[in-house]
Amino acid sequence: MRVDLRRVRLSFCFIRISHLPRSLLVAPCRIGKEESEVMDLVFIFQGVGRNRALMSTDLPGAISRRSGKVRDIYDYGDGLLVVATDRISAFDSIMPNGIPDKGRVLNTLSAWWFEQTSYITENHMISVNPKDFPAVLRLYDDVLDGRAMWVRRAEVVQVECVVRGYLAGSGWKAYQQTGEVCGHKLPAGLHLADKLPEPIFTLATKAASGHDENISFDKMAEVIARQMGVSAQFAMTKICEPIRDKSLQLFNFASARAAEKGFLLCDTKFEFGWSKKTDQFVLADEIFTPDSSRWWDAAKYEPGKQQESFDKQYVRNYLESIGWNKEPPAPELPPNVVAETSRIYREALRRLTA
Ligand SMILES: Nc1ncnc2c1ncn2[C@@H]1O[C@H](COP(=O)(O)OP(=O)(O)OP(=O)(O)O)[C@@H](O)[C@H]1O
Ligand SMILES: [Mg+2]
Repeated sequence: MRVDLRRVRLSFCFIRISHLPRSLLVAPCRIGKEESEVMDLVFIFQGVGRNRALMSTDLPGAISRRSGKVRDIYDYGDGLLVVATDRISAFDSIMPNGIPDKGRVLNTLSAWWFEQTSYITENHMISVNPKDFPAVLRLYDDVLDGRAMWVRRAEVVQVECVVRGYLAGSGWKAYQQTGEVCGHKLPAGLHLADKLPEPIFTLATKAASGHDENISFDKMAEVIARQMGVSAQFAMTKICEPIRDKSLQLFNFASARAAEKGFLLCDTKFEFGWSKKTDQFVLADEIFTPDSSRWWDAAKYEPGKQQESFDKQYVRNYLESIGWNKEPPAPELPPNVVAETSRIYREALRRLTA
């Protein structure tokens, strides 16, 4: 087995560095030591040049940090810094390979959509300009630029809000069995990838681990009432109904906007949260990215069959093709799968924002 000594050295330093005061982290650069050495301790990359993927970060000065499957989230007290890495997950496992530029695509697209949809609903974005991030991060502006978002902290509702405009994924499976999708009775005789008579709002629990489970609108009110310590009636009229209405408005806005660019928006997921600072519900997490949405190419749309989508479907297809049992650890992705997935994400950004 070949051991990458550079990585071993970095991992070793990592354990120690997270306990050091930030002055010590920043100081070596100021006194003339190689800046890149400090960068190596804070950012771990795979590959080089255009094929470089950001796998993890360890930024200084935060009160706390946690890592989702894709993002590293730092709490700086007066706000959160959400850093989109190039990690990719499929079937609930994080792949050992990163997808070059994926984090930049997700962050840039979210910022683009948050800006345009702020007239529909408040969102958590404060800034994507590194100059607005905490001063302790100034040294890292170049890497964080395009990949990080400074946001308002929110208590994220433990329910994922999904809007579906077409029949695909778990919606298609449910329809075949029951003729319904999450309590929405649909016309008989629909095919895979057919357009629905109108977009529908559906819900899933945000499971801490394992697979999300579809739930009804009443159950959503129950979950939120418990989480927020309010009555189910209050949760229903003051939280769930407004969230549903906003979600549908957002979906309709993005569908119309994307149609101008030759895209169909099949479905998408939102996360809303309660901001104590502003005493209101805000749209949090990410919005209309290829990770949270299924985008289809309108020119290639052909109902009745599986559509090619601008997201990690390519990775999922590869994993299915090799018969992976979907239990961790996930297998290594071959270079062509990584390169093609990276191309798909970049193309989604380029075409949508053109
Ligand atoms: N404004 C916000 N305040 C607090 N948490 C947020 C905010 N926006 C997003 N989050 C949370 O940050 C995390 C984003 O990281 P990422 O997308 O990598 O996680 P994930 O693996 O999809 O999340 P999870 O496993 O929690 O569903 C999510 O848990 C999301 O709920
Ligand atoms: Mg997420």
